[in-house]
Amino acid sequence: MNILIVGDVYSKLGRIALEENLEKIKREKPIHFLIVNGENISHGKGMNENHYKWLMQLGVHVVTLGNHSYQNKQIFNFIDDVHNVVRPYNFPIGSKGKGYTTINFNGLKITVFQMIGKVFMDENNLSPFEMTEQLLNEVKSDIYICDFHGEATSEKIAYAYYFDGRVQIIFGTHTHVATADARILDKGTAYITDVGMTGPLDGVIGTKKEIIINRMVHDGKERFEPQDTGKKQFNAILVEINEKTQKVTNIDSIHIV
Ligand SMILES: [Fe+2]
Ligand SMILES: [Fe+2]
Repeated sequence: MNILIVGDVYSKLGRIALEENLEKIKREKPIHFLIVNGENISHGKGMNENHYKWLMQLGVHVVTLGNHSYQNKQIFNFIDDVHNVVRPYNFPIGSKGKGYTTINFNGLKITVFQMIGKVFMDENNLSPFEMTEQLLNEVKSDIYICDFHGEATSEKIAYAYYFDGRVQIIFGTHTHVATADARILDKGTAYITDVGMTGPLDGVIGTKKEIIINRMVHDGKERFEPQDTGKKQFNAILVEINEKTQKVTNIDSIHIV
């Protein structure tokens, strides 16, 4: 089976790039399972209900979030009612929504979960290592897929080695910059440190570049606004899993400008 995983879809240009490139990819090969990181899909911050419904119409199976999970308050209207929106599992106890979902596909149980990093991120998040152990013990599944939402490349790589062979796919999100290290680790896990963003190419990780430069050079205080004009980028990975053995047979990264 072919699993397509699309990195952080950012605002208007991200939604356009997602729709356009999804059609193109599907013309070339069948996509059996589709995961999209949607933490920036609505104006760069969170996901509103319309955009969630739009993703469902596109055929998305699971939407993952991240540190921006709750920034669009509309999420609270539906996050507990839908089965396929996943926020970090290691958020503090009592956080709204769920950290994993299990979907039946052709008789296989596919569990998609998200972990958020602790390095250079919110210290209140629980340990992604301990919480993944807990999840793997409690939730029995044929295929596990993890969105590791983290800032530090080292934390993601260490995590991937630690869970190599126990989680079929570990893909990084959050930095919005794709890494060139997609590979299959020794014990069989398909891994990439960061899938990269699907959104504007000309901003600074999604935001209008003038605002960020002004903040960095002149201590500017302008609000973040998405870069909604100019070139678009699409970043994803395509992973093949043998349904009989449930083992990964290939991982490719996709970068389209
Ligand atoms: Fe993001
Ligand atoms: Fe993020």
